[in-house]
Amino acid sequence: MKNLGIKFLGILGLVLLVGCKENQSKQTETEVEVLFSDSTEVRPNFHFTPPSGWMNDPNGLVYNDGTYHLFYQHYPDSIVWGPMHWGHATSEDLLNWENKPIAIYPDSLGYIFSGSAVFDKNNTSGLGAKETPPLVAMFTYHDPIGEKEGANNYQTQGIAYSTDNGKSWKKYKGNPVVGNDNMKDFRDPKVFWNEETKNWILLLVAGDHLKIYNSNNLIDWKLLSEFGREKGSHVGVWECPDLFKLKVGETDEEKWVLLISVNAGGPNRGSATQYFVGDFDGEKFTSAQKDTRWLGWGADNYAGVTYNNVPDNKRIFIGWMNNWMYGQETPTSTWRSAMTLPRELSLSKINDEYTLMNYPVEGLNSLREEITIGKKEDGITAKTFNQTEIAINVSKKDFELNFSNTLKDTLKLALHKGVFTVDRSKSGLTGFNESFADKIHQMPVPDLPDGTYEIRLIIDVSSVEIFINGGQYVMTEQIFPRTPYTKISTRNISFKNSKIFKLKSTKPNYE
Ligand code: FRU
Repeated sequence: MKNLGIKFLGILGLVLLVGCKENQSKQTETEVEVLFSDSTEVRPNFHFTPPSGWMNDPNGLVYNDGTYHLFYQHYPDSIVWGPMHWGHATSEDLLNWENKPIAIYPDSLGYIFSGSAVFDKNNTSGLGAKETPPLVAMFTYHDPIGEKEGANNYQTQGIAYSTDNGKSWKKYKGNPVVGNDNMKDFRDPKVFWNEETKNWILLLVAGDHLKIYNSNNLIDWKLLSEFGREKGSHVGVWECPDLFKLKVGETDEEKWVLLISVNAGGPNRGSATQYFVGDFDGEKFTSAQKDTRWLGWGADNYAGVTYNNVPDNKRIFIGWMNNWMYGQETPTSTWRSAMTLPRELSLSKINDEYTLMNYPVEGLNSLREEITIGKKEDGITAKTFNQTEIAINVSKKDFELNFSNTLKDTLKLALHKGVFTVDRSKSGLTGFNESFADKIHQMPVPDLPDGTYEIRLIIDVSSVEIFINGGQYVMTEQIFPRTPYTKISTRNISFKNSKIFKLKSTKPNYE
């Protein structure tokens, strides 16, 4: 990777308070020391990125024996989408990732599309042994020849297994295990163990609806039910389902949550993930939910699913931090796309509505190094806002928070009349695709009961993740500032009780 070796050296911390008549409120500008050595274009510091080549959806999220596996849609030969493989990385803490060899390669049955993985503890599949139970991955075979010939059955489901905790994978000889009788879009298997019915459940999406199956051995599947033809958003094809049970707040009530990604028609256009809260009796999912609900409102969180087999019933989610509208054109040169931060999902009842919250996993706090803005610190404390967490409480219903750099690239965040906005139109490089920055992105944020907004922002070079009120309102957005932001200007926000952290880098050395 080319080392651009750009070095900018310090403007000392300086705080300006400027009266702002129009809003009868204070405009505050805070400039901090700029001292960084930006070597490798826009590769994030603590978000997962592929070592090289193209990446989209997270796949096969499974925890086993101290290891979190992250497989992902991968085309190693180019930085645009192509014949899909499953790339692979592992981690003990979801933050420090070790890149592994490609796990599953395309074959004569097709490309290896998205799917999931389970730990088959009792060797129900017979693909391992009692002493060495296997990891079993299920994925969609996408046959490009069938597709070209105009067939309607070119997506089928196959499995592969590993008896060395994911190091090596073999495909099952009897693939495909689920055939296709004429469904053009039929993919993205999510398999999980249902403790209540003591069997395996499989979810597949078929264009505009979900299909649910069960099995005792991960190989022979029986169709049980369907869900969703008339529910939720259908602007795009349904993709990447997930289904899991969560406790409602601190109560004893439990509900099932279904995630469905739609590849167009998100709240700010393009790809987004919706959710349904309901009940699952082991065969059928039902939901009384009337409206469409989004897991996040930003433009860049898609195809996210959760880990199987995590201890303590934790529900950990990772999404692809990109959008099919422009995802193959973002300004990187040897690799493309990052994953969202790993987030813990929880369910709360707010104003009598079940609300799915998503919030960074607690482990992220271990990357924190507290810094003070407006003051020069010793050494490279990298007081640029390119690997930064900011936690603020805002008590005004109308505020602004702008980040800018020496080149005047500016990212504008604001709350006005109950709508939180992200304006990335002048945030840096935006011209790679018209739809990236032609609209201000919006998220309705009604008044909060105690009148304050607890806001947590996490910036990592080329993304900002915004969590309001503990993950009730979330936006995930890519940004490509030409140099890191070095200045914050605000209206109606005081940094008095805020915390600003530099978050340590966890990325492997790619130089
Ligand atoms: C979602 C998706 C999946 C598919 C995969 C192909 O982004 O379209 O439905 O399996 O990507 O790479």
